[in-house]
Amino acid sequence: MAELSRRKMLLSGGALGALGVMGMAVPAQARTAPWAWAPSGSMAGTGVGADPRWVWDEEADPVVAALFERGQVPEVNRLLWDWNRNDQPLPDGLPADLRDFIERNRQLPSWADRRKLETAAEFNKSRGLYLNLLNGVGGGMLSTAIPKEARSVYYSAGGADMEDRVAKTSILGFAVGALNAYRPDGTCMVNSVKTRLVHAAVRHLLPQSPHWSGDIPISQEDILVTWHTLPTYAMRKMLEWKVPMSAADRDAYLHVWQVTAHMLGVRDEYIPATWAAANAQSDQVLPPNMGPTPEGVELTDILLGQLAEQTSPGGISRPLVNALARFLVDEQVAEWDQIPREPFWEGTIRTVWPILVRFREGLIPLPLVPEIAWTVDEALRQYILFFLTKGQETKIVIPTGNRPN
Ligand code: HEM
Repeated sequence: MAELSRRKMLLSGGALGALGVMGMAVPAQARTAPWAWAPSGSMAGTGVGADPRWVWDEEADPVVAALFERGQVPEVNRLLWDWNRNDQPLPDGLPADLRDFIERNRQLPSWADRRKLETAAEFNKSRGLYLNLLNGVGGGMLSTAIPKEARSVYYSAGGADMEDRVAKTSILGFAVGALNAYRPDGTCMVNSVKTRLVHAAVRHLLPQSPHWSGDIPISQEDILVTWHTLPTYAMRKMLEWKVPMSAADRDAYLHVWQVTAHMLGVRDEYIPATWAAANAQSDQVLPPNMGPTPEGVELTDILLGQLAEQTSPGGISRPLVNALARFLVDEQVAEWDQIPREPFWEGTIRTVWPILVRFREGLIPLPLVPEIAWTVDEALRQYILFFLTKGQETKIVIPTGNRPN
């Protein structure tokens, strides 16, 4: 961890101490209360109620561990490189255990509802700007304030090349949001299964890293935590911003993410069946799993630096990016991530964002949108376009090692 500056480390430690003084729950890996979320609120409707903190992926993990033991990961990556479409047969030559695993798990769950998935696709398209902002920038800022995730990302191979890592992650994000996400010509089933293999590889590799201490990474609880920083957080924000949404749209948006959770290997007994169940689960799992880490602070700085760089053609600067990030997350998360304060831009965004939303929703005409609002709008477009393009240049592959330095 030599590259982490001492100052940042001290600051993070200071933030941790302050939390204790404020009498708040000590963050990070501190859930001592028993798992209390009722499986009656899940897609399965029933379950034994096992604590997902101690459940990983019992199907994918042994298959991927065996690939490592047999030295087959590079060859598997080569064979799967051109496996892209949901309806595409697997290439010849894959190890039999892997082939069986993929064939079983590329299928949609029995409860997937095609009609809802189509509605979700339309919703994702019409609300694309908000969703890309919330899932890309907002979700990114939340994930760096989740110690277990920040450390996993930092010490895995992708931690050394965050631009590539964000591009790769956005492949799945854009696949979920695509009109044909789960149609035969879409890519969501393929990219979800590939991601499940990547996560299994991380569980195999990270415990071998000299920097790693703690439990096996990416438990079912960890995946649920991250899941809530995506759809649950995005829905809460869109409601806060008064984005008009029909009940059918809200339900369909939840559904596409329920299916995605299943495809990522989350057990149906943990996947919330309704928004009420999702909110309850989010409130249970997020607070004890959030907090500051030096790794999270460094990753935040890298991510915001990239955002500023990619969006500079639109005239955006790092202060605006900082303000945008602070606008998307609450004060506490912004402090944990050590996102610098930007009084001017923070005030500007707070003022223009509701106007932009109302304009987009056809509730106010153009002349009422102040000029400065377009700086924010254009920056977002540049950011999304950049990662869309980057995403096309790369693919999700099973990592063969950890962060090299
Ligand atoms: C890789 C998505 C949860 C840690 C990936 C990739 C995607 C993805 C698309 C492939 C991109 C790449 O290889 O860089 C998701 C989604 C999640 C989730 C949608 C939940 C809904 C988690 C959690 C953790 C985690 C909870 C850790 C606690 C990682 C790591 C990699 C990875 C370390 C590999 C990075 C590398 O080796 O380069 N994830 N993930 N993910 N994910 Fe996740």
